[in-house]
Amino acid sequence: MIEDIINIAKEAGQLIRSRFNTNFSLEFKSNESDLVTEVDKASEKIIVDFIKKKHPAHGLITEEGGTTLSKSEYNWVIDPLDGTVNFAHGFPMFAISIGVQKNNETIAGVVHDIMQDIIYSAEIGNGSYENDRRIKVNSNTNLRHALLVTGFPYDVRENPDNALGKFAALTKSARGIRRLGSAAIDFCFVAKGVFDGFWEVHLKPWDMCAGKLIVEEAGGLVTDFDGSKINIFSKRILATNGKVHNAMIDVLMQN
Ligand code: IPD
Ligand code: CA
Ligand code: CA
Repeated sequence: MIEDIINIAKEAGQLIRSRFNTNFSLEFKSNESDLVTEVDKASEKIIVDFIKKKHPAHGLITEEGGTTLSKSEYNWVIDPLDGTVNFAHGFPMFAISIGVQKNNETIAGVVHDIMQDIIYSAEIGNGSYENDRRIKVNSNTNLRHALLVTGFPYDVRENPDNALGKFAALTKSARGIRRLGSAAIDFCFVAKGVFDGFWEVHLKPWDMCAGKLIVEEAGGLVTDFDGSKINIFSKRILATNGKVHNAMIDVLMQN
């Protein structure tokens, strides 16, 4: 199955790459920061058409098309373009994220970093890969030496649960903080040991399904801010190398 997921991510990735920095139509969703372009929709159509043809009984949870839960035990969880604001502004950092769940457990995940032409992939029990290279989280234990990454929900202006206090507190606790604008890539950069930790509130199932498995299969830990187990519908996500996890929990829970 992983080969199929990789192939369809590459096909949709080619379309997205060919439309980067061209004229495309753009609409607002919940507000003027929350965008969808015709390219998001075209990418989703390529992926969904493939699944409907090859696995007609499988369910779909997709960002632009909504949810049709499965009559079989399989569901595909799809972000056809993660990093739409980057894409729309010509910043070359965006991805496709495809996860497959069996009985609500993620069994495979693929994130395609389109402009770097990298495929991150994981199957449950089989480790994580950047193209053909096995990847691992880093071994740093000291939060003061950590490079962290985060993101913010589109309703950051009005949502009191916007995590800005946590951002300020972790900025003072770590070596540095980055904000890439693609949650799927944030997870993969934890998985390959670039970042020690990633936290965000209000992610959606399609932002995290594949990335969570890729971090876990690379030896990392993904939980709620209080350390409890999460699923793809959870609202507080902490993904780390496992070794700065408790130190990050302390800061996240106190701020
Ligand atoms: C967004 C990106 C961003 C994160 C937002 C997501 P989208 O996804 O992953 O990094 O901070 O929470 O919604 O809208 O570009 O698919
Ligand atoms: Ca997304
Ligand atoms: Ca998206």
